Amino acid sequence: MHPLDDPQTYLRLDPQGMADLVARFPAMGADAWEAALRLQPPPGPLSAVVILGMGGSGVGGDLLAALLRPVFPLPVAVIKDSRVPGFVGPQTLVFACSYSGNTEETVNAYKAAKQVGAPAVVITAGGLLRELAARGGDPVVQVPPGIPPRAALPYLFLPMVGALRHLLPRTDLLGEWAEAHAVLEDLGGQLGRDVPADRNAAKQLADRLVGRLPAVYAATSDLAPVAYRWKSQLNENGKVLALWHSFSELNHNESVGWEDRTLAQRVAVVLLREPEEEPELARRIAATREVSFSAAASVSEVIARGKGRLARLLSLVLFGDFVSVYVALLRGVDPTPVPPIDEIKRRLRG
Ligand code: PA5
Repeated sequence: MHPLDDPQTYLRLDPQGMADLVARFPAMGADAWEAALRLQPPPGPLSAVVILGMGGSGVGGDLLAALLRPVFPLPVAVIKDSRVPGFVGPQTLVFACSYSGNTEETVNAYKAAKQVGAPAVVITAGGLLRELAARGGDPVVQVPPGIPPRAALPYLFLPMVGALRHLLPRTDLLGEWAEAHAVLEDLGGQLGRDVPADRNAAKQLADRLVGRLPAVYAATSDLAPVAYRWKSQLNENGKVLALWHSFSELNHNESVGWEDRTLAQRVAVVLLREPEEEPELARRIAATREVSFSAAASVSEVIARGKGRLARLLSLVLFGDFVSVYVALLRGVDPTPVPPIDEIKRRLRG
């Protein structure tokens, strides 16, 4: 029996249930979306939107920026730092996202944003950030406790989409979420732990990645945050190093790194693609496969599902989340704990 089809594998290696948390992504999304619809952006004119957040709490900002970029009338910046850029001021809407509410960079950046008078929404399960928001009268979106931050992505990301919907009157965000939810449920039914490896594309891809250096490449810059999410999930769940990049920028640097054929043989490429692509992009990817990836251990493709941007982004996220957990289990490691993250935070607090 394939190890990922054996219930003992999950009992032995996944006692905190990361595989189940990933499978709950669509249900968490539905829950988070309800809360999102109750959220109103602060009144008054806005000139920019800024999202603060690190690691698992910051990737929602990357996804939001990618989702909004083609349609949103204002600049959107994601800040993974203790400081905020000079343009932040009373007309900048700030989302401060930290699952624990205690992440140093996010707390400091939130304080800096408040000092220059920026209106803010805090998204957190508790900690110092929730206390500061309560003191300053900023709205708090309460994230349920007891979930590793990276597994709580729907709660950290969707409230921001909901809060901005009034600024996007021509985009049917309600329809986009309805489609995304259906796509996620369908995908969850195809990739979950109970679907055997011979019919489960996520388990099959994990088989190809184990023992290799995964390189996750997004076909477009709009999908780049998803490639970054795959890399981060492979790091945190799978406990492996991984590369990520996006077309066409990678053709201007990383393509050359593939000249090292010895290392290239150990790299497993994953291409994240759109269902419909411009012919020029398809030609670019085909040329890169021939010129650069010919020595790779394997080249796999994962195609986004759905018509709307939200479905496409989230379907690729969910696929990668499953793959990262399966990589962990095939490597014989527990996907949930992240001791180096905890240890570095502990040392810095000390
Ligand atoms: O996934 C993780 O545990 C980390 O990437 C955290 O999200 C990161 O360290 C930031 O912590 P928090 O999410 O509590 O702000």
